[in-house]
Amino acid sequence: MQKLLEIKNLSVKYPVCSGFLSNSKEFIHALDNVNLEIKKGEILGLVGESGCGKSTLGKSVLRLIEQPEGEILYNGENILSMNRSELKNFRKKAQMIFQNPYSSLDPRMTIYDILREPLVVHGIRDKNEIKERILRIIQLSGLDEEVLRRYPHEFSGGQRQRIAIARALVLEPEFLVADEPVSALDVSIQAQIIKLLLDLKEKLNLTILFVSHDLGVVKYISDRIAVMYLGNIVELGESDEIFKNPRHPYTEALISAVPSVVKQHDDFIRLEGDLPSPKNPPCACKFHTRCPKVMEICRKITPENAEFSKTHFAKCHLYDMTAGRV
Ligand SMILES: Nc1ncnc2c1ncn2[C@@H]1O[C@H](COP(=O)(O)OP(=O)(O)O)[C@@H](O)[C@H]1O
Ligand code: SF4
Ligand SMILES: [Mg+2]
Repeated sequence: MQKLLEIKNLSVKYPVCSGFLSNSKEFIHALDNVNLEIKKGEILGLVGESGCGKSTLGKSVLRLIEQPEGEILYNGENILSMNRSELKNFRKKAQMIFQNPYSSLDPRMTIYDILREPLVVHGIRDKNEIKERILRIIQLSGLDEEVLRRYPHEFSGGQRQRIAIARALVLEPEFLVADEPVSALDVSIQAQIIKLLLDLKEKLNLTILFVSHDLGVVKYISDRIAVMYLGNIVELGESDEIFKNPRHPYTEALISAVPSVVKQHDDFIRLEGDLPSPKNPPCACKFHTRCPKVMEICRKITPENAEFSKTHFAKCHLYDMTAGRV
């Protein structure tokens, strides 16, 4: 499969004031040297605990964060060096949906106006074309035409997320970042929205970066899964492979906490402590403060990617000797 997006050595740090009386700046290292590819037509799931850097990555690849270091190539072009008009053209092709369908829709606008806005911003003025595009996306998103006259507050969370999805897709983009799109919804509604995204992906030839803190959700939608811990991708592989044969102790712990797959694994793995602060992350393997399999080397040397197959990688010292032979 062809690459749509190539992320190379991407780092993001947010400056934060360290104290009330101090002028010195500290940094939150939200992304630390991330390398990742997204292939045309795939759904890549990005999973990890809250605060590990998922949204920062999602926003960076749409250049909604201005300070990343590194390269983000979209169809071979670095989006971090695009000028205004190139960026506008890119924004037509790449869109985002957010976790909270309550705050992401302007309460003063009708649904018709909400869906019309991106078309107008991108220079589509012909009334008939606007109407046709809106009707098409409304129908594809499983909504009725009569929603167009109404306002966001008249809808439930699930319906609002459908509207937010319709708004993101009305320009017929190629690439969608879905940042925790079902996390704020009831479990019964989550499945409907996931089904809708899968359906839209097929019909509109989308490529999706699907972000969630919940591996159970990511499992159902992703072709491949990237597991993130404190700003690093610690394991990457095809979805089935990650679940059948997880290699990184952090991935094992996440999987053991997914209720539907617990039976396939021996026990729930309880991780000690919270996610350490990204202001002052542990050195070497950042997971060493919580890892049930920690060794001496883990506190001293940062693990490199061990390759288990052409598509399966993990950063862990457990495989320093065996990678390539397992
Ligand atoms: N605008 C910001 N300014 C300062 N710190 C931020 C900002 N956005 C996110 N962070 C911090 O960066 C880290 C990663 O955040 P985020 O990317 O939102 O993680 P996730 O989406 O995985 O929960 C967190 O420690 C968060 O507090
Ligand atoms: S490198 Fe060491 S601490 Fe890090 S995940 Fe592997 S075994 Fe655990
Ligand atoms: Mg987030």
